[in-house]
Amino acid sequence: MKDLLRVKSLIATEIEALLNQQVKKEAYSSAVYLSMASWCNRNGYDYSAEYFFKQAEEEREHQLKFYKYILDMGGNAISPEVTNIKGEYNSFREVFEEALDQEISVTQSINNIYGRCLKIQDFVTIEFLSWFLKEQREEEYKARRALELFDVIGEEGTGRWEIDKHVGDIKYEG
Ligand SMILES: [Fe+2]
Ligand SMILES: [Fe+2]
Repeated sequence: MKDLLRVKSLIATEIEALLNQQVKKEAYSSAVYLSMASWCNRNGYDYSAEYFFKQAEEEREHQLKFYKYILDMGGNAISPEVTNIKGEYNSFREVFEEALDQEISVTQSINNIYGRCLKIQDFVTIEFLSWFLKEQREEEYKARRALELFDVIGEEGTGRWEIDKHVGDIKYEG
C-alpha cells in the first residue's frame, strides 16, 4: 500500500523531505522578520519596521508556495513548528547583519535542493525552484543595500535616523 501511495507522489521521498525543511526555513524567516519589525518599532525605526513587516509577509508567501507545491505533487506537507525566535538585538546594525545572514543561508539551502534535484533529474522541481533563485537574488541585494547604508551614511549624530529613512526606499530593479 505504501508503494502504491509513493507511485501517486511525483516527488522522491528525499526531495519531499528537503522541501518540508524549506517550508520550515521560510516560516522561521517570517517569524524572525516579525521579531525584527517589533524591535525596530520599539526603538523608533519606523521605516525599518515597515520594511521587516513586508519581508515577514513575503517569507510567509514563500512558505505557502513550497507547502502547496508539496501537496500538488502528491506529497505530505508538514506544518512547521517554529521556535527560538529572539526578541532582542544589540544594535540597529545587528538587525540588518542578521537579516543578510539569514538570506544567504536561505539561498544556500535552495541551492542545495537544486543540486539534489539535478542529481536525480527532478526537472519539474528544478523548474519550480527557479522562481526562488531569482527571488533570492533580489532578497540578498536588498539586505546588502540596507547594510551598506550604515557605512555610506554613518551612524553618528542623526545617522541612524537617516539610515532608517533610506531603508524605506530600497528597491530592486533586476
Ligand atoms: Fe524566502
Ligand atoms: Fe527572504
